Amino acid sequence: MPSTSRNRIFSGIQPTHGIQLGNYLGAIRNWVKQQDQFECIYCIVDQHALTTVQNADEMRRNTREMGAALIASGIDPARSVLFVQSRVEAHSRLAWVLNCVTPLGWVNRMTQFKEKAGKQRENAPVGLFVYPVLQAADILAYRATHVPVGEDQKQHLELSRDIAASFNRRFAEDFFPLPEPMIQAEAARVMSLRDGTKKMSKSDPSDMSRINLTDDADTIASKIRKAKSDSILGISYDPENRPEASNLLTIFAALSDRERADVAAEYESASFASFKEHLAELCVEKLAPINAEMRGLLANPDHIDAVLGDGSARADALARPIVDAAYEAVGFR
Ligand code: AMP
Ligand code: TRP
Repeated sequence: MPSTSRNRIFSGIQPTHGIQLGNYLGAIRNWVKQQDQFECIYCIVDQHALTTVQNADEMRRNTREMGAALIASGIDPARSVLFVQSRVEAHSRLAWVLNCVTPLGWVNRMTQFKEKAGKQRENAPVGLFVYPVLQAADILAYRATHVPVGEDQKQHLELSRDIAASFNRRFAEDFFPLPEPMIQAEAARVMSLRDGTKKMSKSDPSDMSRINLTDDADTIASKIRKAKSDSILGISYDPENRPEASNLLTIFAALSDRERADVAAEYESASFASFKEHLAELCVEKLAPINAEMRGLLANPDHIDAVLGDGSARADALARPIVDAAYEAVGFR
């Protein structure tokens, strides 16, 4: 039976839209750092995205853009396995098996389905309902031991553990390791530049509310300069009363790898304008090179496709024997 000899990280991101600063600081940057310590497998989960993105050109474009954004952010396709979910059959093969060992009641409890389906529950695609089972298959097909995700994915990860245990109980003891969630720090929760109480998000109608990894240096600087501020003297961290100042401090600290308190102390008596000027410089310094690399990569889509194709072949080689063994365990072989 194939097994993993050391810790193996698996995580996924949906190619539903471009990457904004919140995704970068909240998720991607941690993926990049983990490459130094773990064997990492990172997946662009287009099959999950199909629950919402139902246009072929958009799907292809988003998948390439996400590939370019991840590589430009520092995911090294030579060290880590970076690939596209739909190109590796193991995910859907295992998903069906897992669907058959997952009680309906477990999936019914998922709060994300309730949120996403909303009042349109009867019209929601079945794929949206079984989304977390496919997510379990993603992880288990590699016998991943650790899964870095944001707080919002905690419930799905617990379900993955339960599903793994359910399979093991029925078919083969210790077949799947129970994956450990690595919940990423709240520290990098990035809020909108227009409203410090709302999460920075690609779905916000105002583009001024977010910094996209596709923004060039001038755009980044001008968004920071125009970010909402308040009229209190000096800069301080006080999310209750000063959500905008606090958010900008969070961004400053995260991008410079400093403690928030340390940055706050430095700008304690600075004007908003001069703080923003420094933050704009910092954002440009850290993000413009990523933007430039991303543009370079996107200018050559064949290269991105080749990199993702190679990653997908490597992912297939890892997952296929594990899923073959799962097929054998259930009696398909
Ligand atoms: P989404 O684009 O919402 O599917 O999120 C993809 C990943 O980025 C998830 O791990 C989120 O937790 C993270 N993320 C998205 N927006 C933010 C934000 N404003 N602050 C921090 N993390 C975020
Ligand atoms: N559901 C995750 C999200 O929206 C994306 C995802 C799919 C994932 N498969 C995964 C994350 C496997 C971790 C492991 O963020």
